[in-house]
Amino acid sequence: MQNQLTKMTCIKDLRQVAKRKIPKMFYDYVDTGSWTESTYHANSTDFQAIKLRQRVLTDMTGRTLATTMIGQQVKMPVALAPTGLTGMLHADGEILAARAAEKFGVPYTLSTMSICSIEDIAENTSAPFWFQLYVMRDRDFMRALIRRAQAANCSALVVTADLQVLGQRHRDIKNGLSVPPKPTLRNWLNLATKLEWCLAMLNTRRRTFGNIVGQANGVTDTTSISSWTAEQFDPRLSWNDIAEIKELWGGKLIIKGILDAEDAELAVKAGADAIVVSNHGGRQLDSAPSTIRALPHILSAVGNGIEVWLDSGIYTGQDVLKAIALGAKGTMIGRAFLYGLAAYGEDGVKRALDIIYNEMDISMAFTGKTDIKTVNKDILIPGTYPLAN
Ligand SMILES: Cc1cc2nc3c(=O)[nH]c(=O)nc-3n(C[C@H](O)[C@H](O)[C@H](O)COP(=O)(O)O)c2cc1C
Repeated sequence: MQNQLTKMTCIKDLRQVAKRKIPKMFYDYVDTGSWTESTYHANSTDFQAIKLRQRVLTDMTGRTLATTMIGQQVKMPVALAPTGLTGMLHADGEILAARAAEKFGVPYTLSTMSICSIEDIAENTSAPFWFQLYVMRDRDFMRALIRRAQAANCSALVVTADLQVLGQRHRDIKNGLSVPPKPTLRNWLNLATKLEWCLAMLNTRRRTFGNIVGQANGVTDTTSISSWTAEQFDPRLSWNDIAEIKELWGGKLIIKGILDAEDAELAVKAGADAIVVSNHGGRQLDSAPSTIRALPHILSAVGNGIEVWLDSGIYTGQDVLKAIALGAKGTMIGRAFLYGLAAYGEDGVKRALDIIYNEMDISMAFTGKTDIKTVNKDILIPGTYPLAN
C-alpha cells in the first residue's frame, strides 16, 4: 500500500484509482457538475489562468503554512468540505476522512447527508469537527440536528445556503443514483467488478443516511430517502431563518454558498463568523461564475468584516495559494479528498492532504514567501487575476 501511495503524486492520480475502485454511480456522483458543467469546468480553468510571480535568491528556510480559520489553528488554510454520501465512496468514509483530517491538523466538516452519523464521528475522533446543516421543512428535525451537533461538541455550524432546490446532474438520473444501489442487472454487473468495495461495505453496518434514518419523522428505511430529500429541503429558507439558527446554535456560524457581494453583506448583517464563497463545486447553478472570479467582488464588499473562505475547483496547492493571495482567509476542498478516500480510504485522504500541502509549500517558496500569513496579491502577475470592478 505504501508503495502504491507514494506513486500518487497528484490529485489526478487518486482520481484515476477512485474511478477504477468504486461503483460507477458513486464515482459519477462525485465527478460531475450540473447541466452543461460550464461552471464546474470554469472553477478549474479560471484558477489555471492566474499566474504566479517567480522570485529568486530569497531565503526560503523556515517556511510555514500554519494559520487560523475562525480562530482555530490549522496546519494549512484548507478544511475538508461537507460532502453527502461519503460513506458510499468507502465503507465508514466519513469516520476515515475525519480521522485523516484530525491527524493532519485541518478541520473536517460532516454533512447532514452523510452515511456515518454525527455520533459516529464523535465516538471515533477526538478533535472537534464542524457540522453542516441542510434546512428541512421539518423544523423540529432541524432543531434536533443542531442539538445533536452541540452534544457532539462540534466547534462550528456550517449552514449551506445554495441547495434548497437541486441543480440537475444528468448522470445521477441516468445511473438511477440511490443509497444503497438498487439490485438491477446493470448494477450487479458493475458491482461484480468492485469486489474490494463490496467486501468493505458488507463489513460495516453504516449503509444508509445515519443522521436521518430513524431520526426524522417517517423515515425508517432508505428506499424512501431520495423522495424524502426532494420533498424535505425547505425552499422557503431565507435570511430571516438564520437568526433562529444562530440563536439555537450559539457558537461559530459559517454560511456556505455565497457567490454575490450583496449576499455577502447580508451574511455579515446576519452575524456569521465566516462565509464560504462557493458554487457547490459547480453542482448547482450552471453558468454561475467561478468562485475565484466572484471572490474579489465579495471581498471589496465586506472587507475585513468577516472571514471570507473559498471552495470549488481546488485541486492543487497552487490553487489554494492563489485563493489566499487574492484575499481568502481559508479554503475548503471537496472532490480532492473524496478521490483520495475512494482510492485508499483514510491513507488516501492523508495522501491528498500531503499532496496539496507540498504543492503549496514549494510554490510559496518559489514566490519568495516563507509564511502563508504574509501572502498577498504581490505574488500574482498583474493582468492575470480577476479584480473587483
Ligand atoms: C460528491 C459531493 C457531495 C457534496 N455534498 C455536499 C453536502 O452534503 N453539503 C454541502 O454543503 N455541500 C456538498 N457538496 C459541496 C462541497 O461542500 C464543496 O462546496 C465542493 O465540493 C467544492 O468543490 P470541489 O469539489 O471542486 O472542491 C458536495 C460536493 C460533492 C463533490
